[in-house]
Parts: sequence; structure tokens; C-alpha cells
Amino acid sequence: VSIGILASGSGSNLEAIANTLNNATVAGLNPDTAKLSVVVYNNPNAYVQQRAQKLSIPAVLCNHREYDSREQLDAAIIEVFQQYQVDLVVMAGWMRIVTDKLINAYPRRILNIHPSLLPSFPGAKAIVQALAYGVKITGCTVHIAIAEVDAGPILQQAAVPVLPNDTLETLHQRIQVQEHIIYPQAIADYIKLLSS
Ligand code: GRF
Repeated sequence: VSIGILASGSGSNLEAIANTLNNATVAGLNPDTAKLSVVVYNNPNAYVQQRAQKLSIPAVLCNHREYDSREQLDAAIIEVFQQYQVDLVVMAGWMRIVTDKLINAYPRRILNIHPSLLPSFPGAKAIVQALAYGVKITGCTVHIAIAEVDAGPILQQAAVPVLPNDTLETLHQRIQVQEHIIYPQAIADYIKLLSS
């Protein structure tokens, strides 16, 4: 399986995924079953670019500001993924809304992670909204992406407590610890399912 990553941010999930997939035994996969082929990032300053470099994964910038529409951005992404023969797309902190164009190019082959227990708090402000609502438990969700944002069949979730003095940063950190555990595992499990 050739994996294409979509990322907009720091890339900590990319690193966790790479560490697991590079260690086939830990992932419960046969050696060489899964390869992180390329990272596409949309923000020229995103730290994920440096992380990809450290991990020796090619990183290609598709700057959304250079495209007139979401469809055109997605078309550029598909072109890059075709060059790298990508057959599984992993969104790891991808902060752009994807269109039908990308979804239809990879039916049931796009995974996403979201920092809440879906279906609660979809969208870009999930953690702020969970704090504002006053929920005592939130978490993270790995799911198969569909055209609707932050929706689609759920593969894994982890619960995370909200503590009394939490800020966006402290809660996000606690959620990320769980993301780095469940996302690599969910990806490995999904690859096993695809190759069975
Ligand atoms: C993650 O917390 C993800 O849930 C959110 O964006 C963050 C990306 O973090 N949508 P990183 O770039 O993997 O460090």
C-alpha cells in the first residue's frame, strides 16, 4: 500500500504514523506492506515539511492560495498522488475542506483524524467548542472521510478527560497523546483489512 499524507500543521501525527509503519512488527504488518510515499502540505511555513525531510519522505507543496477553487487544489493533489502511485490517503491535520473530486478519486481510501468524539464538535474549532460547552470528556476520532466534513464511518476513538483549568493548548496536548496512539494503529488495521 502506497500512502499519501495530507498535512497542514506541525506533522506530529505524520511522525507517529511513520514510526509505527517503519516498524512492521509493531504495526502487525508484513514488512514492505505499507510505504509512506509522499506528504502534500498546503502551507509553506508548516513544520510538517521539516519533519518529512527528517523522515526522508518527499514533501510537495500545494499552496491553496495558488488555486482558484477547492476543486483545482484537489486536482493538483490527485496529480501528485498519481505520480507516487498512492492508493491510500491519510489526512493528518489537513485543514482544507476536500471536495467530491478527491473523495471520488479515492472511494473509502481516505482516512481522517479529528480532535473530538464525533459526531460531537465537527469543524475546525472542535477543542475550543468542547471547552466552551463544558463537556467533561472529549477525545479523538479516526474515520473514513466522506464528502461531508468530519463525518463518515468511525474506525477508532479514544476518550480524553477535560480538566478544570484546561486551556486550548493543554487539552490539545492531552488529545494529541491519544491521536499518536490510535491513528497509527487504525491505519495499520485498515491496511490489513484492505490487503485481506
Ligand atoms: C491534530 O490534533 C488533528 O486532530 C487536528 O490537527 C492536528 C494536527 O497536528 N485536526 P499535527 O500536525 O499532526 O501535529
